[in-house]
Amino acid sequence: MQPIIELHRVSREFTAGTQKIRVLNAVSLSIEQGEMVAIVGASGSGKSTLMNIIGCLDKPTTGEVYIAGTPVHDADSALLAELRSRYLGFIFQRYHLMPYLTAQENIAIPALYTAMPEDERIARTQALAEKLGLGNRLHHRPAQLSGGQQQRVSICRALINGAKVILADEPTGALDSVSGKALMDVLHQLHATGHTVIIVTHDLKIAQQAQRIVEISDGKIIADTRSTSSNNDGPTYLPTPERDNGRASLGRSLYESVRMAWRSLLGHRLRAFLSMLGIIIGISSVVSSMAVGEGARQAIMSEIGKLGTTTLEIRPGTGWGEKRPEMERALSLDDIHTLQQQSWILGVSPIVSSMNIIVRKGYDSSTMFSGVSQDYFTLQGLRFVQGNGFTRRDVAEGEPVLVIDETGRDTLFPEGDDPLGQIVQIAGAPWRIIGVASKPGPKVVGGFMSAWIPYTALQQRITGEKPLEAITLRFADTLTPQEAASRTERLLLREHGKKDFFTQTDDQLASALQKTSDSMSLLITAIAAISLLVGGVGVMNIMLVSVTKRTHEIGIRLSVGARPSDIMNQFLIEAVMICTLGGITGVLGSWLFGSLFSLFTDEFSMVFTASPVVMACGFSALIGLTFGYFPARRAARLNPTEALARE
Ligand SMILES: Nc1ncnc2c1ncn2[C@@H]1O[C@H](COP(=O)(O)OP(=O)(O)OP(=O)(O)O)[C@@H](O)[C@H]1O
Ligand SMILES: [Mg+2]
Repeated sequence: MQPIIELHRVSREFTAGTQKIRVLNAVSLSIEQGEMVAIVGASGSGKSTLMNIIGCLDKPTTGEVYIAGTPVHDADSALLAELRSRYLGFIFQRYHLMPYLTAQENIAIPALYTAMPEDERIARTQALAEKLGLGNRLHHRPAQLSGGQQQRVSICRALINGAKVILADEPTGALDSVSGKALMDVLHQLHATGHTVIIVTHDLKIAQQAQRIVEISDGKIIADTRSTSSNNDGPTYLPTPERDNGRASLGRSLYESVRMAWRSLLGHRLRAFLSMLGIIIGISSVVSSMAVGEGARQAIMSEIGKLGTTTLEIRPGTGWGEKRPEMERALSLDDIHTLQQQSWILGVSPIVSSMNIIVRKGYDSSTMFSGVSQDYFTLQGLRFVQGNGFTRRDVAEGEPVLVIDETGRDTLFPEGDDPLGQIVQIAGAPWRIIGVASKPGPKVVGGFMSAWIPYTALQQRITGEKPLEAITLRFADTLTPQEAASRTERLLLREHGKKDFFTQTDDQLASALQKTSDSMSLLITAIAAISLLVGGVGVMNIMLVSVTKRTHEIGIRLSVGARPSDIMNQFLIEAVMICTLGGITGVLGSWLFGSLFSLFTDEFSMVFTASPVVMACGFSALIGLTFGYFPARRAARLNPTEALARE
């Protein structure tokens, strides 16, 4: 019969600093299916090293190893994992249980990497735990179990997949004599049911219970004795699975990875919360600061916009400073009519003006009267503090009505009388005040008063027929001032047949507006970048610490049959879960902040846009994956023994 384990001239060297130590020296050993072998030797003789190589946890430096005929000395980590999962059950001196999982969950871990159905897994876990006297301890965590109980949990874990070979490295080392004896009974029963049992021990009494004793010294086998007494006919009562379930399919291993990741998040709530906190703070501060910034930017822009960046003036002539009498009458009411037809023009008003004296009960003031249309007030962004502007009818009929500004009100009504409906004298005739308007922008203290009347009334009642001094219009804010100016010029050029006018936009204001907008965007982006950086560093730290801390867990999972890819999936999914939960919480948090914010101020509101949310989530996912994935990949590629050694 083919031996289940065969070692041929196996050597293992370790490099400690610059020195190479040869721990195993050309060891050849062959173990048959169903044997019970004790490996004995002095401390440091290489017993554990040998055991790890037999258990596919470590590879020899030179030599050949066969498990059930499969060569493993140059196998890749996936094949080693498969062999561990299928044939080998390891029992460690120091149990190596996962502290955050219950006994039941610890026992079931190896089965999660196989295709064993869930009901069978639960049934086997319970049956094994019953047999080993753990029936009422299934929901305890390792810390709540005695040493002997923990060792029995690790035996159940070694048996869950129906391992044919049980490897026990000093299994009684940490147990009292009674628990040690109970453990040996279990191993005997396993042997009796056809398992191959290999025990490393320095206790001769225990070694003598085996039929074969292999003695090792300084990395060499110095004795290999078989005793005749064999008790290979004991009761068969430890359940073995009816069939080999094989490895888990991709779908199933992903499903189990999700469950494991979730379980591990629950098992490390504080750590999960802290990782998430970094993301939550990062995302909510990015999203909030961008929303506040965008809100403030829009508020400032609309405030500046009111000052007339979307207005345009058309004047007769070729430019300022050059009087061209023949062009004085270039602008007409026909032009106003043409301009009003354009969909991109939101309002048009002619302007004619006249200097005159306004008189009211002993107060008088020399004032510039602007004759305008009813559209003038909205297109110039004037706000009425009292009353209203003129109506279309007032303009059509040339009614003697008047709108004054706040300076005018203070000049004419220093006692604080209500100006609305009051009659004043202009050019010897009575005019009625119908509104008080306020100009946008900073208040000019001690300035001249302004007064507006229908341009028809000005021409009919004060100056007589008079050419238009200017036309002012407001264009849609989808156009730039340059675009609006060139459209206007094209239009009027067609009407007039010659260029007898010029347009004027407030270029300075427009470019100041653009500069303000640009520098605010830059400021917002800088704040967002800083928040992301702070959040990112937080996530990075927690992720790095947690993967390092979890190297031991990775070692356990590898040793019970997980492939490196299973480990990667688990960590990847954990990182994705943390990032997603953190991201959602962060966005909700900033939205909540936005709602609170709007309760306290109505100066401006936070404007949420999609791009910072996408940007922040993408960035935190990237950080989570980078700092979760790469350290996990490094750990998953470790030798299981090395990973286990880190605690
Ligand atoms: N990863 C390692 N790096 C360097 N040296 C190692 C490593 N692992 C083991 N050794 C060395 O190999 C030798 C054998 O170690 P091993 O653990 O196999 O001994 P052992 O026979 O199991 O001893 P004990 O009875 O004390 O458990 C020791 O001298 C040890 O220092
Ligand atoms: Mg040892």
